[in-house]
Order: sequence, then structure tokens, then C-alpha cells
Amino acid sequence: MDSPTGEPHIFVVFGATGDLMQRKMLPVLYHLAAQGQLPKETVILGVARHPLDDAAFRKQAAASLLEEKAGAEADVQSFCQRTLYYQPLDNQSGTGYQTLQGRIEQVEKEHGLPGNRIFYLALPLEAFGPTLEGLGKAGLNRSSGWTRVVIEKPFGRDLASAVALNALAHRYFEEKQIYRIDHYLGKETVQNLLVFRFANVFFESLWNRDRIDHVEITVAESLGVEGRAGYYESSGALRDMVQNHVTQLLTLVAMEPPATKDEDAIRSEKVKVLHSAVRIAPGDVVRGQYGPGKLNDLPLPGYRQEPGIPSDSDTETYIALRLKIANWRWQNVPFFLRTGKRLPAKSSRVVVTFKAPPVSFFQTEQEYEVNPDRITILLQPQEGFELAFEIKIPGREMRVQTHRMKFHYADVFGELPDGYETLLVDVMAGDASLFVRDDEIEESWRLYAPILEHPPAVVFYPAGSDGPVEAHRLIEEWGHRWEPG
Ligand code: BG6
Repeated sequence: MDSPTGEPHIFVVFGATGDLMQRKMLPVLYHLAAQGQLPKETVILGVARHPLDDAAFRKQAAASLLEEKAGAEADVQSFCQRTLYYQPLDNQSGTGYQTLQGRIEQVEKEHGLPGNRIFYLALPLEAFGPTLEGLGKAGLNRSSGWTRVVIEKPFGRDLASAVALNALAHRYFEEKQIYRIDHYLGKETVQNLLVFRFANVFFESLWNRDRIDHVEITVAESLGVEGRAGYYESSGALRDMVQNHVTQLLTLVAMEPPATKDEDAIRSEKVKVLHSAVRIAPGDVVRGQYGPGKLNDLPLPGYRQEPGIPSDSDTETYIALRLKIANWRWQNVPFFLRTGKRLPAKSSRVVVTFKAPPVSFFQTEQEYEVNPDRITILLQPQEGFELAFEIKIPGREMRVQTHRMKFHYADVFGELPDGYETLLVDVMAGDASLFVRDDEIEESWRLYAPILEHPPAVVFYPAGSDGPVEAHRLIEEWGHRWEPG
């Protein structure tokens, strides 16, 4: 059992009947409670439009928890009875938030809570503004304790909407009350990027334009759109994955060492990377969409044949792009980013390729290929890192081969915690280091504005293939190739 994190509070979830709450957050909250990490008196108040009462919500939550195999039935039922409440929110008459306020105060009183509140917006983008406004106008942005608001992604659709959403949020909440979530930052291996770089002298001393040739960031998924047509059609891979998750990886790989491990010191360094990125040109981007294909011998429909997707959709399900960061550390080092759905396997990794030796006397007439050294940071499904370097094959001849030295987290630590768990605990503890700051979100939208404003036409790739052939051109033009695997 761990000790509880933070002070007792009420955890209010907007969108409580939705998928994110039912399939992801409830199991995480249940697990935290089971581990003794939720402050004992803490209660969860689900809020949504559905006219449910506490009993019906508890029943629904218990069914979801059992379906997700979160725990034994008796424990699940007891957690739901003890911890869960529900308040329908109907703001047609404009009094919905006052009613909500009354309910929050009543539950707080019942449980002797000191007025600490977390509002978690597990909602679609268009509901963020009205909810922040509803909370603010009802005075729910302040209380006798602390108040924090957690906002899911996507935070905006582009630079202008992100700026407007930040302005609206700041009308009612101070920046330090706002937690913009990106679940990639909760992944242990993503956080380990900081330790890997800044607690190890030998990597950091090579981490620059003199020694690094290029960097590749790949986030590949085998899943397709998975019944999320409405959301994905208005999003696409750039908004769904690149502006947030992939960009977080980019900034953590490229940032300078922060002065302290303070949340603002780290986030300021990440913002500086985005500031230094060179404007992306149309020719630096490939947008792809999966067509019909096969995965593990199973025929798969194309994106346009998926339920709810228009037959002429030009939403990208794949994107590859190249960029440079114009600062002292990275001048002229290419960064290649790619992500896509319906690729052969789930695999997220960062590959840092070092420069080849200036001369190689091992290359004889037989032309043994001498590969440059590479560090691969594995994010999923395996977590850890691998170092590829050249060794001599024993024998009289001087023959060279690549060897991979591997560290996998699972071998040492077993299963790692879910990223959401880490992030929820941080919100409860009031630590915003792993959340995205206002300027960071705006800078990342600014970086991708040229693509959003002038999106190149989509090209097609068969489902189950490794993406459009055009993505190879993108990297080959700059003299490199994607790391297979
Ligand atoms: C989500 C995206 O943010 O991240 C999904 O909306 C994507 O489309 C998911 O599948 C990937 O997350 P993970 O942790 O499975 O890599």
C-alpha cells in the first residue's frame, strides 16, 4: 500500500458517462483507491447531461469496472457505494451550475471535506469553453480550499482557437490552477527521457550537432479509427497525435537542461525548442490515409469505408514530416517525425543516429557495411532503450557487425503504471510538471500552422502496410532512411 497523495478533495468529472471516464479513468481511480493512494475521504462526483441518480451511476460504473476487470465484484461494489455520486447537468435554464454548486457543497459537508476541488473535463473540445465559463460564472473557480481544472486534449484546433481557449480559461482560472493533460507525459519512459539525458554524462556530452546525425520519432499504431468517426474526422493525425504526443517527445529529446526540476523550469526549456523550430514548408510534409488492405491476413476496410466516414474524406490517418531546430545544439540536424494508424504493429520509439566515423578503414573490397551508432528509446509496446554499435565478428578477417545492447524496463521493474494514474496523482498533489503550459500549447499549434493552413493532398497506403511510399521520399531527400521495425 502506498500512502495517499494530496489532501482530501472532491473529484468532479464532467463527461462522466462517456468512454474516457468509463473505460479509462474509473479503473485508474479504482486502482488508486485500492492502493490506498486516494486520500480516504475523497469522493468522485460524476457530471453529465444524462438524467441519472447516484444509484444508477454507481450501477453503470460497477458494470464498467467489472468489464475492465478492475477488481473483485465485492470490492468494486463497495468502492462505487463509498466513493461515487452523480449530478445531472442541464444548463438550458442557465441555473445548472448553481445546482451543481449546491450539490458539491452538500457532498463536501456530508464527507467533512475542506473545499478542495478538482474539475476534470473529460469532454469534447467544443464543450471546454462553455464548461469553463459555467464554472467561472457560478463562482466555482474559487473555494475555501484549492480548485484545479484538468482539461483533456485536444486543446484547440489551431493556434487561434487555442489562444481563445487559453484566454477564456484565464478569465476565470489562474494558470497554476489549469492542468492541460497529454497522457504521453504520464508514461514512465517519456519521463525517463529527462533522466536518461540529464543524469548520464556520457549521453548528454554527445547530444548535439557535432555528434548526432539525425533524429527519428515514430508513433505507429495498428488500430484504425475504432468507431471514433465524428471526432477523428474533425481531427486527423496531425491534431490527434502530432501537435501533442509527438511534439512532447520532440521537446523532451531536444530541450536544454533545465536549471532546476521545478515545473516551470522544465516547461520553459520545452517552449524554447518550439520557438527555435524552423517554419515547416509544404514539401516537408506527407499526409496519408489508409485504404483497404490486410493485417495478419485479415482483410481490412479503408478509412473511407469505416462507419461514419464520408466516402470522399481527405482526413489524414498518417503524417510524416521533417523539421530543423535552429539553435546552437541542433543547427542543421534533421528531425523526422511520423505517426499513423493501421500500420503493421504498435510501436513508439525515438531513434537517435550518431554520425558515422569520418573515415572507415574497415570497409574493404568486400564492402562490409559499417552502420552509424544508434540509440533507440523504446516507448511501447516494449519500454526501455537499446544501443546499437559495431563489433568485430571473431575470426582472422576484420569483419564488422552491428550489436544491440538492450535495457527493457519490464525485465527490471515488471509492469509499469498506467500514464493516467501518474497524471491523476500529480493533479491531486498539485504538481504541474507533467502538464502542458499555456505558452507551450500555443507554440506547438504555431509550429504546425503552415500544415493546417495549406494541407498537402492526402496520398494513400494500404491498411497493414508501413505507410505511404511518399514518406520514404521525404526522408531520402535529406539523405536518410526510416529505421525499420
Ligand atoms: C490518443 C489518440 O490521444 O492517443 C488516439 O486520440 C491514439 O487516436 C492514442 O490511439 C494513442 O495512445 P497510446 O498511449 O496507445 O500510444
